[in-house]
Amino acid sequence: MPRPRTARMHGLETFPYDWPVVKLEGIEERGALVTGGARGIGRCIAETLRDGGARVAAGDLQTPQIDGVLGVDLDVTDERAVDAAFAHVEESLGPVELLVLNAGIFVIEPFSVAAYAASKAGIMAMTKSIASEYAGTGVTANALAPALIDTEMVAAMPDLRDRVPLGRFGTPQEVADVVAFLCSAHSSFITGEVVDVNGGFLID
Ligand SMILES: NC(=O)c1ccc[n+]([C@@H]2O[C@H](COP(=O)([O-])OP(=O)(O)OC[C@H]3O[C@@H](n4cnc5c(N)ncnc54)[C@H](O)[C@@H]3O)[C@@H](O)[C@H]2O)c1
Repeated sequence: MPRPRTARMHGLETFPYDWPVVKLEGIEERGALVTGGARGIGRCIAETLRDGGARVAAGDLQTPQIDGVLGVDLDVTDERAVDAAFAHVEESLGPVELLVLNAGIFVIEPFSVAAYAASKAGIMAMTKSIASEYAGTGVTANALAPALIDTEMVAAMPDLRDRVPLGRFGTPQEVADVVAFLCSAHSSFITGEVVDVNGGFLID
């Protein structure tokens, strides 16, 4: 019997509904690595892929401690650490077939809209380039653009809840569910896309 979603909310804003987890095909038994997996959205993604039956590793600056998930020391800005983490994960769990590049930071002061927009545009362009370059091998690459998801990162910002058309912050689970879908067989014809998960905060 699937657990209700609220079991994974870590004391953050309660998910508004209590529905069972949908079983996605194509995740079971696959090797997965989630960066920035110690807390927040990354942790929820690692748990969701684990619950979907993947063999999951989570990498972070401090080794993630998550039941049923291999915790790995990883600073994504250090190339040698990335190589070492991959070697360790592949030795322990087999090939990494699902790679979730979630690690990131948000610098509040001084905040530059131009710098933020440039980095977001860079991620979008890089996603499309990777998708195009690897399409012939059957590899898909997609990006998510979350906004105002209730994590420690957002807790450090001014309260923008009233600016979200859906009237609340999103939950890490609402991001993790989209990631799980994009990792599953159900999205096998989707590549080079950027999916906004933001309650209408930015509608483009
Ligand atoms: N929460 C939001 O509303 C929101 C909005 C837009 C983008 N994002 C992005 O989503 C991702 C997750 O956000 P979150 O809210 O869960 O953030 P968070 O700050 O709660 O968690 C980020 C995790 O990444 C880890 N990390 C940071 N630098 C790292 C590095 N160099 N190597 C490895 N791990 C590192 C941190 O230790 C932390 O565990 C981030 O990339 C963030 O920029 C979040």
